[in-house]
Amino acid sequence: MADERGFSTRAIHTVHYHGGGKGQPIAFPLFQSSSFAFETAEDQESVATGREPGYAYSRASNPTTDALEQTIANLEGAEAATSFASGIGAVAAAILAVVESGQHILATEQIYGGTYGLLTRTLPRFNISHTFADATDLAAFERAIRPETKLIWAETISNPTTSVLDIRALAEMAHAHGALLAVDSTFTSPYLARPLEDGADLVAHSATKYIGGHGDLIAGVVAGNHALVHKAHTMRVDFGACAGPLEAWLMLRGLKTLSLRMERHCANALGLARFLQEQPGVTRVHYPGLESHPQHALAKARMPGFGGVLSFEVAGGKPAAYRVLNGLKMSLRSASLGDADTLVSHPASISHSGLSAEDRAKSGVTDGLIRVAIGLEDLPDIIADFDQALKQVG
Ligand SMILES: Cc1ncc(COP(=O)(O)O)c(C=O)c1O
Repeated sequence: MADERGFSTRAIHTVHYHGGGKGQPIAFPLFQSSSFAFETAEDQESVATGREPGYAYSRASNPTTDALEQTIANLEGAEAATSFASGIGAVAAAILAVVESGQHILATEQIYGGTYGLLTRTLPRFNISHTFADATDLAAFERAIRPETKLIWAETISNPTTSVLDIRALAEMAHAHGALLAVDSTFTSPYLARPLEDGADLVAHSATKYIGGHGDLIAGVVAGNHALVHKAHTMRVDFGACAGPLEAWLMLRGLKTLSLRMERHCANALGLARFLQEQPGVTRVHYPGLESHPQHALAKARMPGFGGVLSFEVAGGKPAAYRVLNGLKMSLRSASLGDADTLVSHPASISHSGLSAEDRAKSGVTDGLIRVAIGLEDLPDIIADFDQALKQVG
């Protein structure tokens, strides 16, 4: 039965541990154990073969990772969830849960660099083909669907130019063509978007980002219906890409403050975006919260905030962008996002360096583009840091 409680309540109270004795731990225990031992060989057989519930080996399941997966499933409005050693492990499992050799994936052209690598470098070796198309142009995107298209791959907010996709329209489109829709919701987290409620079939996250929230773990999650999550889970078991119990424990802790953190990330990002768009050396700011953003109305209608990532272009290409990056005194030069610390990067040289020049241009990743993954610091301090760095460039 659906849990009718609010998002923050579900993030905190989906699972509590009940052991023996009268006092119970508030934090779910960390079951840091590779395998589990049994009183009898018969018990071991019945659990290991799935005839009885229980835990046998942590690559398949573990009480702490189970607690995390139940919480994610609840937050996403999903029947089930499974967890991975990384976000890209989750992306790969979500894709392979759906697509067979000989089939085709239609993916949004503004896509995370690691997913681009998976689609262009590795999956073709297994006879899985792909096309990239602009999913903000729904008619053009639909024309790229082929009879053998089995999966549409989308991201809620794209990296780094922050295009916002219409997940409801994409789900309808996929289903009308006999395909499924899987969505990478890393940039939105379950707090800002719930793609399954909009009709998507699977949702994947790099939990390294907002779900963990503190820059101290690498992990991923996938949620969806029982049948698809079972297939994704089989990928995890067969490829060995399971999340460790400690990472699951850290994710459970991170989830308790997800809503608070996302609200602060969104408020800080909007404040910095508004500041940047007034600066003379800045030629363009990409942030869905700005009225000038092409999908501002869609984002406003669908999400309670506009995310914690923005990007901006400075005149003067890579040399100017590097001068700004090197001039920042508080913000840290790093490729990740979703941390408490504000992180900045140069997508053309880092996350999108593996793309062909043509695909990079299509993604809007210019040489003067700087990405900001806003942190949880005080907004005036973040603005002061960018102000002094931009003044150094002149
Ligand atoms: C949108 C998106 N998806 C997936 C990933 C991959 O996640 P991980 O680095 O945890 O493997 C990232 C990482 O930056 C990302 O930004």
